Amino acid sequence: MTFLPATLGLLLAPLALCVRSGPPNILLIFADDLGYGDLGCYGHPTSLTPTLDKLARGGLRFTDFYSSCPACSPSRAALLTGRYQMRSGVYPSVFDPGSIGGLPLTEITIAELLKTRGYVTAMVGKWHLGLGANGTFLPIHQGFDEFLGVPYSHDQGPCQNLTCFPPDTKCFGTCDQDVVLLPVFLNGEIIEQPVDFPGLVPRYNAFSKNFIANAVKQKQPFFLYYASHHTHYPQFASKEYTGKSLRGPFGDALMEFDGSIGGIMATIQDLGVANDTLVFFTSDNGPETMRKSRGGNSGLLKCGKATTYEGGVREPAIAYWPGRIKPGLTHELASTLDILPTLCALAGVPLPNVTLDGYDMSEQLFKGGKSKRNTMFYYPVSPDEVLGAYAVRYGKYKAHFFTKGAMNSEGPPDQDCYRTANLTAHDPPLLYDLDADPSENYNLLVGSQRHDYVHLLKEIWLEKARFEAQMDFAESQYNKGRDPKLEPCCNSDCSPKPSCCRCL
Ligand SMILES: *[C@@H]1O[C@H](CO)[C@@H](O)[C@H](O)[C@H]1NC(C)=O
Ligand SMILES: *[C@@H]1O[C@H](CO)[C@@H](O)[C@H](O)[C@H]1NC(C)=O
Ligand SMILES: *[C@@H]1O[C@H](CO)[C@@H](O)[C@H](O)[C@H]1NC(C)=O
Ligand SMILES: *[C@@H]1O[C@H](CO)[C@@H](O)[C@H](O)[C@H]1NC(C)=O
Repeated sequence: MTFLPATLGLLLAPLALCVRSGPPNILLIFADDLGYGDLGCYGHPTSLTPTLDKLARGGLRFTDFYSSCPACSPSRAALLTGRYQMRSGVYPSVFDPGSIGGLPLTEITIAELLKTRGYVTAMVGKWHLGLGANGTFLPIHQGFDEFLGVPYSHDQGPCQNLTCFPPDTKCFGTCDQDVVLLPVFLNGEIIEQPVDFPGLVPRYNAFSKNFIANAVKQKQPFFLYYASHHTHYPQFASKEYTGKSLRGPFGDALMEFDGSIGGIMATIQDLGVANDTLVFFTSDNGPETMRKSRGGNSGLLKCGKATTYEGGVREPAIAYWPGRIKPGLTHELASTLDILPTLCALAGVPLPNVTLDGYDMSEQLFKGGKSKRNTMFYYPVSPDEVLGAYAVRYGKYKAHFFTKGAMNSEGPPDQDCYRTANLTAHDPPLLYDLDADPSENYNLLVGSQRHDYVHLLKEIWLEKARFEAQMDFAESQYNKGRDPKLEPCCNSDCSPKPSCCRCL
């Protein structure tokens, strides 16, 4: 008789501790095409990012944080599933408004996992993981209770019709023509087409605050995934921010984004849940320097978006949780792939029974400990099973087996970033010590010193071979093609399409 209560007591003691604190609220913020050098707290001299700088001062700032892909849809698929994009089939490009495919519904997202622990979930902003027939792939079918946003990039529509502030604002460069005007969705319905850009972020702010307030009122933990359109091209901002930065339209967009985060942080503070909320901030991929000064900046890193150089995938990242995360700087390796396992650990959700590519970052976040990650595999926007990873990070070293420039990265003087830098195989690889040489300038495998790295190269080859042997490529969702009939249209019976799809 005494045996049973004792056992129960043992079981209940740790449980009671967990219940008292409860799983934390989670605010996951994802920037768009924001580079390593774009924030004030990452050294940009004229960016005005007071909120993010404050989060960085009060939280943990990462120097070696990686996205899984230098482009949008694949990077987002990996963030939400904790798996490389090849496993879910979200490659070799980004989804179009009329794409037939999307992130498969069989994939398990962070939102779906957190819902099993009683979280209320919402997504606001840019989805870009498919729309499909009748909105099959929208966030509301991937674990999010609510969705407000544009389902893809805001340059995937006729840009000359953007309603920017001031109203006659000209677009810089070209956007996609011959597709429908950009829609705003609320859950599964179009509520506005075309998007009113000056009003978009204020709308997101109101939605976010409302969602958080409701969750707090109902005493439910919340998960808010805020994927901003800022600072992707074409840059826009509301009246409050237009012309206010020192960096032109890019700076204004960044400033509006920072202000929007500031408003959400104020709500969290005012509702008294700041100490129960983990905020995680990062970006989907490096800067689109082909937009020149209207693109972002990768700081001292080489090239940008769509390349497997550091500028393509190494991103600013900040984790903030007062009382739980000690303010500081970490040089440990981490990735967007690690966010799902970390959030599962925090919320007490068992990991899904699928192959994951991430590691729980708890030691690194809460104990100033080492990262479980010692490698990062760099896949291009169009990955292929035969070539495998283009580059491998192994501790402080990085080996490039293939390099290739990209249109998105043109702009800076370095010709390696340009389209004209064709796919090139390197055997032996180009080897860099990223601690000593973060800009990838000085190949270690030259001259007689190359002999010092024979053993290291063997280890890297082994890691690469081991990783690639278990990397399964799912059928490409992008290659399912597109159907103009799937483009979102608020008045679906109108003609002529696509220009008639327009509602106030
Ligand atoms: C979308 O839903 C409507 C109404 O339920 C249905 O008639 C139509 O066939 C669906 N379209 C597709 C492509 O599934
Ligand atoms: C939140 O945590 C901080 C730091 O641990 C502490 O100083 C503050 O009193 C806490 N606030 C609340 C409302 O618990
Ligand atoms: C996990 O998945 C594998 C393969 O799909 C299956 O064989 C196994 O039974 C599953 N395990 C659990 C605990 O569900
Ligand atoms: C890159 O490839 C293109 C197309 O095959 C070719 O025309 C061009 O000369 C190549 N550039 C270089 C620098 O080799």
